[in-house]
Amino acid sequence: MGKIEIPFNLNGKDLSVEVSPDTLLVDLLRDHLGLTGTKAGCREGECGACTVILDGNPVNSCILPAIKVMGKSVITIEGLAGENGELDVIQKSFVNEFAVQCGFCTPGMIMNGKALLDREPNPDEKQIRDAISGVLCRCTGYSKIVEAIKKASVNEAG
Ligand code: FES
Ligand code: FES
Repeated sequence: MGKIEIPFNLNGKDLSVEVSPDTLLVDLLRDHLGLTGTKAGCREGECGACTVILDGNPVNSCILPAIKVMGKSVITIEGLAGENGELDVIQKSFVNEFAVQCGFCTPGMIMNGKALLDREPNPDEKQIRDAISGVLCRCTGYSKIVEAIKKASVNEAG
């Protein structure tokens, strides 16, 4: 199958990659670009572990053909930390609130939480729970994850 050139912006940097038309975004990120922070869980759009932010909206990268990001902006978990490596507020909050156990769901939780906070800096608990409703966690019981996102909100984080 012939390859297609895909120019897009990844974590703030413009780049262009050649991929087969059937390449999925999760595989482009993990296998071609080495960004393994995005997790491949169910690969069926059910668990949310593969969530990235596409033009401001969280999407499941396991069911999105990579060619769909042509000309768009993609942010992965690797793109949240600052250039000096300092973690984003929401990442620090997950650490401080002990919202991580095995960690497999964590990138998906954080990317959905980040997309929520970017559009609603002070969400209530229902908005937080709605935002992460597409991400499955086998470990935490969700409460600490909700608390971590709440603590990263404008009112709590200051
Ligand atoms: S790996 Fe994409 S939703 Fe589960
Ligand atoms: S921390 Fe293990 S799946 Fe969520």
